[in-house]
Amino acid sequence: MADQVQIAQGSLNVVDRGQGPVWLLVHGFPLNHAMWQAQIDALSQVARVLAPDLPGFGASPSHGDVLSMESAADALAELLDALAITTPVVLCGFSMGGYIGWQFARRHAARLGKLVLCDTKAAPDTPAAAENRRQRAEQVLTRGLSPLAAAMLPKLLGSHTRQSQAGLVRQVEEMILGCNPQGVAAALLGMAERADAQPWLAEIKVPCLLVVGAEDAISPPAEMRQIAAGLPDARLVEIPQAGHLTPWEAPAAVNAALLDWGIQARSASE
Ligand code: MLT
Repeated sequence: MADQVQIAQGSLNVVDRGQGPVWLLVHGFPLNHAMWQAQIDALSQVARVLAPDLPGFGASPSHGDVLSMESAADALAELLDALAITTPVVLCGFSMGGYIGWQFARRHAARLGKLVLCDTKAAPDTPAAAENRRQRAEQVLTRGLSPLAAAMLPKLLGSHTRQSQAGLVRQVEEMILGCNPQGVAAALLGMAERADAQPWLAEIKVPCLLVVGAEDAISPPAEMRQIAAGLPDARLVEIPQAGHLTPWEAPAAVNAALLDWGIQARSASE
């Protein structure tokens, strides 16, 4: 069950389930916390899982016209404050959730025990990609979400999933079409202006797990291997027959990777 939690910036809709070390699951774009359903079910057997809807997504109200990765990271820290969680957490970010994870690692380092980066990038947008996002934001506000869903579905899901999991393809499409256009536009503008996280990688000393789908067309395995090489303490797991949306496309393999690493990797606070 999800609840609205009041934070300084507004409120966040959050699933809070299980007991033990806190895992904070940060969804990608243009999705909501439900993309993590299989991880919520598995991890909450051994941990306290927090799965918020980011501002402007799912049942969380929008917090402004631009959702910067910095302000999203701050909203997550405010969420931990609101829930009186003071021990370092495992932040698990998927794609845009990973962009927010870099900011959380930088701005709230003392609150981070371990970091999981699923199918994400450390590099910023090229000028052309940023311009494309700004145009896309305008389009979403004027024409709605259908063009975005049509453009993103083939990129989010691997070819294996598109051929073999018709139900999942429909669910992802419905999740995109159910988004709030204002929230989507704000996130597009925030991602377009996001900072380059590559120079910070060496400073992120906590244990990191990188998960990537072998067929990921947005943040391909080669790019994630480069990120892993720049992090002081990183393990990379490549998931076969999955595209970008690996946690949803291949939940059993992703859960096994998370649980295996979660048990073995010790953070500085443990
Ligand atoms: C995501 O899955 O969050 C998006 O693909 C990120 C992006 O558009 O860069």
